Formats: sequence, structure tokens, C-alpha cells
Amino acid sequence: MNKQSQIKAIRGMNDILPLDSALWQHVETVCADVFRQFGYQQIRTPLVESTQLFARSIGAETDIVSKEMYTFEDRNGDSLTLRPEGTASTVRAGIENGLFYNQQQRLWYQGPMFRHERPQKGRYRQFHQVGLECYGWNTPDIEAEVLSLVAQLFDRLGLKDTELQINSLGDDTARANYRDALVAYLSQHRDALDEDSVRRLTTNPLRILDSKNAEVQALLGDAPNILTFLSDSSAQHFETLQTYLTDLGIAFRINSRLVRGLDYYNDTVFEWVNKDFGAQSTVCGGGRYDGLVAQLGGQSTPAFGFGMGLERLIQILQEQGAESANQTGFTDVFIVSVGEAARRQALILQRDLIQAGLAVNCHQGAGSMKNQFKRADKSGATLALVIGEQEAQDVTASVKPLRRPKSTSQAPLEQQTIAQNDVVNVVTNLLESL
Ligand code: HAM
Repeated sequence: MNKQSQIKAIRGMNDILPLDSALWQHVETVCADVFRQFGYQQIRTPLVESTQLFARSIGAETDIVSKEMYTFEDRNGDSLTLRPEGTASTVRAGIENGLFYNQQQRLWYQGPMFRHERPQKGRYRQFHQVGLECYGWNTPDIEAEVLSLVAQLFDRLGLKDTELQINSLGDDTARANYRDALVAYLSQHRDALDEDSVRRLTTNPLRILDSKNAEVQALLGDAPNILTFLSDSSAQHFETLQTYLTDLGIAFRINSRLVRGLDYYNDTVFEWVNKDFGAQSTVCGGGRYDGLVAQLGGQSTPAFGFGMGLERLIQILQEQGAESANQTGFTDVFIVSVGEAARRQALILQRDLIQAGLAVNCHQGAGSMKNQFKRADKSGATLALVIGEQEAQDVTASVKPLRRPKSTSQAPLEQQTIAQNDVVNVVTNLLESL
């Protein structure tokens, strides 16, 4: 028979395997908990939106829209796109469901995003973000609150060595004036620019500030600085944010070349960067986007938020020594059974113990007693419940402690045989005492 060719995952789209999913769940739980503590509510939007939504919000000249979107026609001939980020969808949903007008909202979301980028460490084509968006505040206090939340989150997760960089892009006038000044400066040095930067000179000049090219970077040393273009009120806003951050004890660095890759920002932008991780070092990025709600057809509403890449965050945590999988404490009881009568009793005992709130792994399929005990031990269970042929006949079970998760007492772990009717009581008490 011909062996069928093996179907592989799409390049840049990863499976999250059981050994890693414990850490993923831990990170997701901590995020949800910190968001709850700060008063944020979850919003869930579809993975697919009309293509126009992203073109009109992220910006037609950005890398995301011009070359990275997964866009396709559906069966009706409508142009749809797999969401490359969460902000545009949140704004769309907020307008459509009347969440913004005369209201303040603290929202968060999580889920897969899609960008057809060149995959490398920390950069994938399907990746996961948790993100957060606030609507209805135009003041820097909400920005300080959000950054305080991120600091708290990193602290709870034990993430180390991650630097907060902040910048202000000012209002539309400041950005337009700055763009002109930057283009004028770089045009004088056109010969030193690479092909990509020359193209951006006309399409999206601020993105040249992000260039990885060393020659371009050297040139940028003497380029005009956006912070000198800010209006008085933007400068004051940025100053006040810094005061709040200092009050909170959150260290930050002003990076006047930080512009972000999406067009909707104004005033405050920020990134949390982990330098040790490599080229894709931004764990979390965001900023203010006061114009977007109106741009997408809603009533003008100030907005601020961030997106955080879970793959990067989790890989950094792993590199910093976080446990991949925490097997111990995962299973309370492992049920070993031999023979058909025992198997039937085992299924019932498993159901009863789970109803009592315990985590119970019941051996299924063939397997010698010795083999089952090996599995029991590997499962990390605290107790084994053994139903051999004799126990099945007597309607009893042997309880055998395998380890002591809590106490430090060295007294021997003794096996006892009890009636199956007493199993839930005895096991629950024993688990308390070990
Ligand atoms: P972004 O900077 O495009 O912003 O993405 C936010 C974060 O998502 C990045 O800092 C990174 O951690 C992660 N990320 C982005 N692309 C990839 C990728 N290809 N592979 C792995 N991780 C990736 C936004 O998406 C904005 N919506 C953030 C925002 C919300 N601004 C205001 N509100």
C-alpha cells in the first residue's frame, strides 16, 4: 500500500502542545485576573472582518495592510480578512453596539491574530494577543493606569528585564510638521538610504525611524526629534504621564524614535521591550488613538490601549526559567483496576470522586498491575486507589498514598483497604492530611 504524504501545519502557525499549555493557561489566567482587578470587561469579536475595516484603520501604507493580510473572497464575492490585530474589531463592535457614545469603557480581549510575515523567533503568521482598550478618557491618568496594570501583570508572572519605552507623536498638526521636517532632512541624504527607506520617504516616512539598516540608523542620529514638534497641550499631557509613572515607581525610557507600525496613533505611544530575546523583542505595544472611532464612523471618542504577544511573553518566561509543565498537584487520585468487575467499579468511583471535586485519572484499557502503578506514579497523583480481583469481589478498594504534597512528616505512607462506599470520605480526608 502506498504511504500517504503527511500533511503539515501551515508555515508560521504553531501547535501549542500539552507540555506548554499549562504555562499558557497560567499566563491567560493571570491576565484575566489582573484585568478583573482593574475593572476591565472582556469583549469577543469574530476572527474574520470585512477587509475595509483594516484598510481604513491600520492604514493602507502600513506593512500590515499592504503586504501581510490574509485576505480572501467568500462565496458571495465579499472581500474578507482574518484579523491582523484586535483594535479595529473592538472599535467596529463598539460603534455597532452603542458602547461608546457618552460612556466610558474598559475592555479586554484575547485570541489568535494573523499576519503573513516572515516567520522567525517570536514572529509567526498565526500568533496570540491579549489586548486591552479604554474608551472615553482623553487624560494621561488612564494611560498611567494601563501601564500600571501591565507592570503588575509582569510582576505577577515573574517577567524580568523588560523595559518600558514611551514617546509622544503629538496631534495631527505636530505629526504633519514633523513628517515634512523628517522628509526634508532625509531627502538631503538620499544616497545613504536603502531601497526600502527611499520608498517609505513618499509612502510612510515615520516608519524609516524603525529601520534596522545600520547606515540609516546612523543618519537618524541627527534627524529632527518629534518631541520638539509637540503642541503645548501635548507636551503637558506627556509630562503629566511621566509624573504619574514616577509616582508609581515604574521605570521608563523616552525613545523619541518610537513610532509604532500602525497609523491610528496620536500623542502617547509605548512598548515594553525585552532586549535579551532577539530581534522580535517587543512584548507589548500600544498607545492613544483618539481619531479612530470617528474615522470608522462613530461619534468622536478618545481611546487608549495595547496588544501583547503571548508567544513572545511565554517564550521569554521559559527562557527566564519558568516551569513548562506543572504535573505535580495536577492529579489527586489514580485508579488502578484489574479485571472486568473492577473496571466497572472503577468508572463509578471515578465519577463519585470527581463529583466530590477531585482530579481523578482512571486507568483504561489493558495493563498489568505493575504497568498501571508506573503510570500512577508518572501522573503525579497523591493517592492510588487499587481495585484488584479480590477487592472487586469484596466491593472494597485499597488506598495507597504515593507522595506527600503538603506535610513534611516522614511517617510511612500506609496502605489501607476500605469499603467502596467509604471511598469518597476516606480519600477526601486523607488528601487533607497528607
Ligand atoms: P502591534 O504592535 O502590531 O500592535 O502588536 C502588539 C504585539 O503583538 C506586539 O508587540 C507583539 O508582542 C505581538 N505581535 C505582533 N505581531 C506578531 C507576530 N507576527 N508574531 C508574534 N507576535 C506578534 C497592535 O496590534 C495594536 N492593536 C495594539 C494596540 C491596541 N494599540 C492600541 N490598542
